Amino acid sequence: MTQPAPSSPQAAAAPRRRVRVQHLAEAKAQGRRLTMLTAYDAVTARIFDAAGVDMLLVGDSIGDNVLAHENTIPVTVDEMIPPARAVARTAKHAMVVVDLPFGSYEDSPQHAFATAVRMLKETGAQAVKLEGGRRVAAHVKLLTDSGIPVIGHLGFTPQSENILGGHRVQGRGDEAADVLCDDALALAEAGASAVVLEMVPAPVAARVTEILAIPTIGIGAGPHVDGQVLVWTDMAGMGDWSPRFAKRFGQVGAALAAAASSYVDEVTSGAFPQAEHSFES
Ligand code: KIV
Repeated sequence: MTQPAPSSPQAAAAPRRRVRVQHLAEAKAQGRRLTMLTAYDAVTARIFDAAGVDMLLVGDSIGDNVLAHENTIPVTVDEMIPPARAVARTAKHAMVVVDLPFGSYEDSPQHAFATAVRMLKETGAQAVKLEGGRRVAAHVKLLTDSGIPVIGHLGFTPQSENILGGHRVQGRGDEAADVLCDDALALAEAGASAVVLEMVPAPVAARVTEILAIPTIGIGAGPHVDGQVLVWTDMAGMGDWSPRFAKRFGQVGAALAAAASSYVDEVTSGAFPQAEHSFES
């Protein structure tokens, strides 16, 4: 959420508080845009938390972005827990949201409950995210009734990429848009705190945003949503490629490569270390 300007009197008086589910609802009611970024470790969690990001998502996108899997499908609960723990230990202000990975919740509300409880108990995260609409509404209801905040995920849902036929925009055409709206309403009715909309035509995302009382968080869903989420490596320009919808807000990959090359050059030439990097006694 937008913080007071550093020079304003509130900035000195009001320390930033932890973002909680009620702040998501407030943000929507007040028309304040929400920010979410993925984070998979303490290094990035510290930087993004200090930058004022509202929600840190320990996404199962760790699969293709960090663990060198082809997609999110192989990611396990055991692989999600250490990164989620590192992010939750580090973030002081952002709400930490952990993805329930493929195969850890779909078959029953009870399975979803067991996985979500494990995630919250073993990581310290504040919420979970899961993919799907009406088919997981009962799961969302059991979790939220049990005190576990849930964020839904509709549109292109990466865990279903095999049945969706790859990375394709979802919700195109009147019928598909109606299905998306009904799924979003079912998640909201079941108690979800927000819904991620991935790769959805902007007018359809705008329609979902209009009909929901809870915030929509878009990724490739255009500007008429209540907030945005990006995978941090896309946002920071870590690699040579990023999806069309992901603006590169920096060239961090190139900066890191240049630093590593300078390190190699200076160590091999003997330019590093110098006296100031050494202990004489
Ligand atoms: O896993 C993830 O990073 C996600 C975002 C793309 C929303 O689900």
